[in-house]
Amino acid sequence: MSETSSQQPRVLIPEAQIERRVRELAAQIDRDYQGKGSLMLVGVLKGAFVFLADLARRLTVPREIEFMALSSYPDGSVSGAVRLVMDVRRSVERKHVLVVEDIVDTGRTLHYLIELLKTREPASIRSCALVRKEGRHEVEVQLDYVGFDIPDVWVVGYGLDYAERWRTLPYIGVVDPTEDG
Ligand code: IMP
Ligand code: MG
Repeated sequence: MSETSSQQPRVLIPEAQIERRVRELAAQIDRDYQGKGSLMLVGVLKGAFVFLADLARRLTVPREIEFMALSSYPDGSVSGAVRLVMDVRRSVERKHVLVVEDIVDTGRTLHYLIELLKTREPASIRSCALVRKEGRHEVEVQLDYVGFDIPDVWVVGYGLDYAERWRTLPYIGVVDPTEDG
């Protein structure tokens, strides 16, 4: 898809529906972490930045924000493997950690992150993804909070991109990655 492409993503989840669901997730997380002290939200860059911003502002429990960034190995090296490119700045030891992801597809990214953070002895670790793709789960991964289940399509917007495009759309839309324009 070129920069001049005129293809507009087809709306899959409208803005108002995302807003409602984020409120519900925040309410659920608030209930679960009531009285447990500060919750460390670990957003996975770049895709989770919009979701994390909205979720974090809806929560009422004490919370702090950290980020991690991962990159996939280029095709042909280690298939499906991920590499840490930015770590959290503060220690997760004895913290209640909630990993916040944009989307879970094969589950490899989240699995890698959870296993890595577990070695650092947090008080607890859970995960939250705005979107989960159905039918693509390759690894068993612990997912505690899910916004939406969607079919196996390429989605963009609300933080999600296709080749760095469409991240700032207010809704979640579908693009056809094979279609040029
Ligand atoms: P997984 O490791 O296969 O679960 O892939 C998760 C990562 O792939 C996500 O964090 C996204 O960065 C990316 N990804 C997977 N599907 C999509 C999509 O439909 N739109 C945008 N990014 C996606
Ligand atoms: Mg991601």
